[in-house]
Amino acid sequence: MNHEVLAPAGPLSSQIAQLFWIFVGVAAVVYLVVIGFLVAALRRRNEANARTAVRAVSVAVGITSVILLGLGLSDFFAQRVIAATPKDPLRVRVTAHQWWWEIEYSDGQPSRRVRTANELRIPTQRPVELELTADDVIHSFWVPSLQGKKDLLPGYTTRLDLVASRPGVYEGQCAEFCGFQHAHMSIDVIALDPEEYSRWYDAQLASAPEPSDPVALHGREVFMGSTCVMCHNIQGTDASGSVGPDLTHVAGRRRLAAGTLPNTLVNLAGWIRDPQAVKPGTRMPATQLSGEDLAALTTYLSELR
Ligand code: CUA
Repeated sequence: MNHEVLAPAGPLSSQIAQLFWIFVGVAAVVYLVVIGFLVAALRRRNEANARTAVRAVSVAVGITSVILLGLGLSDFFAQRVIAATPKDPLRVRVTAHQWWWEIEYSDGQPSRRVRTANELRIPTQRPVELELTADDVIHSFWVPSLQGKKDLLPGYTTRLDLVASRPGVYEGQCAEFCGFQHAHMSIDVIALDPEEYSRWYDAQLASAPEPSDPVALHGREVFMGSTCVMCHNIQGTDASGSVGPDLTHVAGRRRLAAGTLPNTLVNLAGWIRDPQAVKPGTRMPATQLSGEDLAALTTYLSELR
């Protein structure tokens, strides 16, 4: 698990980390030199001579200008790398909602588009171009190991490129206060080897699997007969809501409710029964279900890999 600005896992975040260390290094040296001169000046205060003072200040101003120019240039060159337009990027649209992330993989063929939520899987070594927008208020996409922050604005699209050099799970967090559950708005970026990524992607294209036993089958009936279908989509069934996360492959995700809980059977059942207890303010309403129906529903959802 990686969630660190100074542990870059890609060329773009490396630029940012490098820039940080250059600025810290230069500032530390300048600080030490200034303190050194201050101590020396205090010791020899009576020997001060107007001409030496003017010369010293002039030299210091010159050095300061060179340092500032140098820092400005290193910033400029880092920006150029970060803002460069990538070649043949994987295009993904990310829409922020209060309080979850909707993820749509673009493809020329509409039948090859994939929708998921709160978990962005990407191939390593290939640039990913994110088109970012928001549904309600301003959010901010921030996965520190891979890139800097970028705001998501309602009615407007911003762009952010990601590149992961090596496989891993890189955690991100909404970085703009967006309401009550701002703190529970995590995103997982999972970088996979290109072949593994292709396998995952092809599996995502498939419709939800058929329930494997009578309990799961009953769970699907519970789902289709409840208000769940108003908000959620499950590909291959009648559920086609788009207000909440797509659940076609929900069991394959690491966490529930945008990083609030690990995706386990018990957590899933607790989340469905009383979402407000888990994430107060969430737009997901509680569901009135008998214990048996809830267990069946959870079983069904846990099979949606
Ligand atoms: Cu979304 Cu803070």
